[in-house]
Amino acid sequence: MKEQEPKGLPIEITAEDLEQDIQHVNNPIVGLKPIEKKYLGKVTEVRQENNRYIFSDGDASVEIRVVSDEIIKVRMAPHSVFLEEFSYAVPKLDQRVAVFTFTEEDDKYAVSTNTVTCFINKEDFRISFADNESNIINEDFQAMHYEENVQFGGYYVYCTKTCFPEESFYGLGDKPTDFNLRGKRLQNWNSDTYSFAKHQDPLYRSIPFYISLNKGVAHGIFMDNTFKTHFDFAQEDNGKTSFWADGGELQYYYIHGPHMMDVVKRYHTLTGTHKLPPIWALGYHQCRWSYYPESKLKDLADNFRKRKIPCDALYLDIDYMDGYRCFTWNKKYFPNPKKMIKELSDDGFKTVVIIDPGIKVDNNYWVFKEGKENKYFCRRSDDYFMEGHVWPGRCQFPDFTNPEVRQWWGTLFKELVEVGVAGVWNDMNEPAVFGSGTFPDDVRHQYDGHRGSHRKAHNVYGMQMVRATYDGLKLLQKNKRPFTITRAGYAGVQRYSSVWTGDNVATWEHLKIGSIQMQRLSVSGIPFAGTDIGGFSGEPSGELFTRWIQLGVFSPFMRAHSAGDTAEREPWSFGPELEDINRKFIELRYKLLPYIYSTFWEHHRYGFPILRPVVMIEQHNPTNHYREDEFTFGDKILVCPVLEEGATSRRLYLPEGQWFDYWTHETITGGKELDVLAPLDSMPIFVKAGSVIPEFPVMQHVNEFEVEEMIFQVYYSDYEVNSFYFEDHGDTFAYEQDIYLEKKFVVNGDKKSMLIKQSIEGLFTPRYETYDLKIIGLPFKPSKVVVDGKDYIGDLAFDDLKRVRLKVNKNFRQVQIFK
Ligand code: GLC
Repeated sequence: MKEQEPKGLPIEITAEDLEQDIQHVNNPIVGLKPIEKKYLGKVTEVRQENNRYIFSDGDASVEIRVVSDEIIKVRMAPHSVFLEEFSYAVPKLDQRVAVFTFTEEDDKYAVSTNTVTCFINKEDFRISFADNESNIINEDFQAMHYEENVQFGGYYVYCTKTCFPEESFYGLGDKPTDFNLRGKRLQNWNSDTYSFAKHQDPLYRSIPFYISLNKGVAHGIFMDNTFKTHFDFAQEDNGKTSFWADGGELQYYYIHGPHMMDVVKRYHTLTGTHKLPPIWALGYHQCRWSYYPESKLKDLADNFRKRKIPCDALYLDIDYMDGYRCFTWNKKYFPNPKKMIKELSDDGFKTVVIIDPGIKVDNNYWVFKEGKENKYFCRRSDDYFMEGHVWPGRCQFPDFTNPEVRQWWGTLFKELVEVGVAGVWNDMNEPAVFGSGTFPDDVRHQYDGHRGSHRKAHNVYGMQMVRATYDGLKLLQKNKRPFTITRAGYAGVQRYSSVWTGDNVATWEHLKIGSIQMQRLSVSGIPFAGTDIGGFSGEPSGELFTRWIQLGVFSPFMRAHSAGDTAEREPWSFGPELEDINRKFIELRYKLLPYIYSTFWEHHRYGFPILRPVVMIEQHNPTNHYREDEFTFGDKILVCPVLEEGATSRRLYLPEGQWFDYWTHETITGGKELDVLAPLDSMPIFVKAGSVIPEFPVMQHVNEFEVEEMIFQVYYSDYEVNSFYFEDHGDTFAYEQDIYLEKKFVVNGDKKSMLIKQSIEGLFTPRYETYDLKIIGLPFKPSKVVVDGKDYIGDLAFDDLKRVRLKVNKNFRQVQIFK
């Protein structure tokens, strides 16, 4: 019998074939005929299935699915075989729109919601999106295309859009590069990047979501693909924006604006928001690799309290473990963890411990034994275990994409929770492996039943690890909100964790990179982010550390951390003068905690980002498109960190409207650049006119004492301004049963009078009875105040900061202040 020709191999290989093979980067196997990129052709068929329309060119198919009035999903299946629908980023794809129409014209089809129309060109299969005034917002430059991957099977999938001359791009997670991504080519492949450099790419996280802004109109693209993904924002060709993936399906969501804020909020309807963190997690955290033994940690705690520098959490890095075995203790350093944690807790400190995914290969170690017996560790394609060296030496790694493994992992925290650990820091979960960087591509993953190689699972590995941690803690801590941090993540990781930006460096450049990274993470759907304050590696000067603490006050996550080979770095490490300044700023964080907490509520409930770069506040103004220093925390406080050595002032842009200097209460009209004095004991902070900013008295840690009177800084305004204040127990899920208060304040003034209104929703009862309202910026001397129809009796004189202070009942409805 004649031997069968191997399928797919050319019978004769010409010199030209070989030449093409050599040039062909994605098909390096010499001898195979190169596979060309295949572009979608003329549309020959269309059919409808519920809210989806499926178009075909006779070979490939494209599904257009209406998700909501403002979100349309596009999927392409080479040869018309769609993959099973599954996403770690979008847990549930609800259809949120009832009305959409399908129409056919001579040259195109149109799928329209009330807000958006998706056009599909018949001739060349190009897809575009228009608003309901027929303005094209986003269009394919070429039809979507694909290319077979002969080594692994599957396809490289590509989409190329037109890049408009004035278009800007934002998002994509933690990229340590300029805020506006125009002109950059970037990729997503979670990587352990110790001491990363400016512009280095990729880093630790994969967030394949970007926001485009063109002529004042924004839209978003979220490519939900966990393989290595690539984005080119007019780098290769000034007229094109491309995104592509090294496998999987080309599937993306078009997210309509027109405001950047709309895009981010809608992105959160797909991927979820961050749950409310326990309020202590918003305090100051002190970390180092590593604080040990116990006496050192105690000494650290005593120093905070003795020096009256507020702090809520202390961290244990890998040295607390026995030989770096996760879920064990080094009893030499920490002989009685339960007692120690209890003592720290009595002094107001939470203890957070690190956990890595690498489990030491050791048959006498229960975690390894359980994992091995139950086949919970990842395996190579030939069925050998995936082994690699990390801190403990030779390790195996749980397959966190297996729900059974996640469930098991969650139970491993039992003992840590019992001894009183309050939070878990998930590290090295890109996953990082010494030497090789990460797992080889052929490692297999269960992928929640949708199996795949490491090419598909790599970018979600860390997210699934922290998901397992979060879910485990939630069960074990009995309705207390878990606190987790993770280094690696994929879109949607915000449902399970906060993040820090990884191993940065103690340089002024990194201070600036960190500020950009936090803003970028915030608009990329990851609100609870922070940098290692002071820089992880290298030695900061005292001045740099202090400037970093200042940025830290306005970082959603505020933690100082440093590598073990650096000098110790606590707020008092640089002498008494700087200690005083650091204390002043950490105290500011604690004063602002109720505002910060309310901002987290607004994020959780409504999907608002926490940090908002100036371009998001004023996207209509093209001069803002490249600004990257100024941002607001929530919508009321604008800051501009000082990022230069020796600076005593800084130039910044204040957005349009009326503002107050936080320190002097001077009023300033925005919409312009200004020079602001910023000696080392100060930083530029501005509050929007009309804001009502809740404040706590300074505490050494959250809940140090019961607040007896809530303070509100109330800023005068000539126009109506709304503010929110959220309060609840601070650490349970009772808020999901409406056990909270959401207070809305409305402030308005007319130069002769000022009105403050309050409305309250929810079921929580705070202990305090009164408010201390500090009225700032009154343009007149008050002669009379009326509270809920009754004359107010009390002192109406200005204090030394030109404020009038009013004590009113916490349930007041209306305060009127008259000239
Ligand atoms: C990694 C982490 C760092 C940690 C160190 C030791 O480098 O990024 O934060 O301190 O490992 O665990």
